[in-house]
Amino acid sequence: MVKPAGLLDIESLDRTEIEAILERARFFQPLSNESYRRLDVLRGKTIVNLFFEASTRTRVSFEIAAKRLGADTLTIAAAGSSVSKGESLVDTLNTLVAMRPNAIVMRHAASGAPQFLARHLQIPIVNAGDGTHEHPTQALLDARTILDHRPGLGGLRVAIIGDIAHSRVARSNVHLLSKFSAEIVLCGPAPLLPGELAQLAPGVNLAHNMDEALRDADVIMMLRVQLERQHEAPMAASEYFRFYGLRLEHLKLAKPDAIVMHPGPINRGRELSSEVADSQRSVILNQVENGVAVRMAVLERILG
Ligand code: CP
Repeated sequence: MVKPAGLLDIESLDRTEIEAILERARFFQPLSNESYRRLDVLRGKTIVNLFFEASTRTRVSFEIAAKRLGADTLTIAAAGSSVSKGESLVDTLNTLVAMRPNAIVMRHAASGAPQFLARHLQIPIVNAGDGTHEHPTQALLDARTILDHRPGLGGLRVAIIGDIAHSRVARSNVHLLSKFSAEIVLCGPAPLLPGELAQLAPGVNLAHNMDEALRDADVIMMLRVQLERQHEAPMAASEYFRFYGLRLEHLKLAKPDAIVMHPGPINRGRELSSEVADSQRSVILNQVENGVAVRMAVLERILG
């Protein structure tokens, strides 16, 4: 039987597929002060959002995106599901599939969990972030946001700074940006920047010095320090901020019109200063806004 197509990662997508999603997301972007388009293409479809990890942006934007396309949605958090009573992931998913939803959007702390389930279940699965592996819709909305400020991704210098080791956002962005021949600099303290990441995709360089990473950058992508995934004592927030926190004076090193991104949730005073987060150069809330448009494009592609 042919497996239903979902969206599990960016690594296995080709440029044409990515471009098609980004172009369709542009169609869904609302004009300023207007609401997202409302279509009926998914009327009669039911989408289950299954979140085994905390989320605000991804969970809410998938829900809004599905509703804007006319689908019925329901969101289940692990704490309120039978997983908390010892049910296995496969049994939980089989239980949900027996109720005949049309797709499952899933976030899980284990890398590879959505891929594992996609092999065993006859239902499209959309990966909303799996462990430290991938967060495909985040990379798509990041690309959409960059393209709102630049004519193309090719040749851009993108500095991705922070806790690279634990970041599924970094991995998905590296795969996407590399497919479009961007120059990618990954930067962070040595314990959070494993050397093998230089081999993740073509066009990736590593830097431990933030000034080096920021020089002539078109895009500065800051990452959250993922304390919940670190097994060793983390750097104190003040020490981390001193060496890897983005401050206004850093912006002089980048291109004059460089944009500052962060997937959120942000930690002010650790990853970036409030002055940067709230500056004209910050597109952090544009990323959130594009999350709905991109997820509408993804859901329509899978189920429309
Ligand atoms: N960027 C992101 O995944 O945010 P949430 O954890 O709030 O969904």
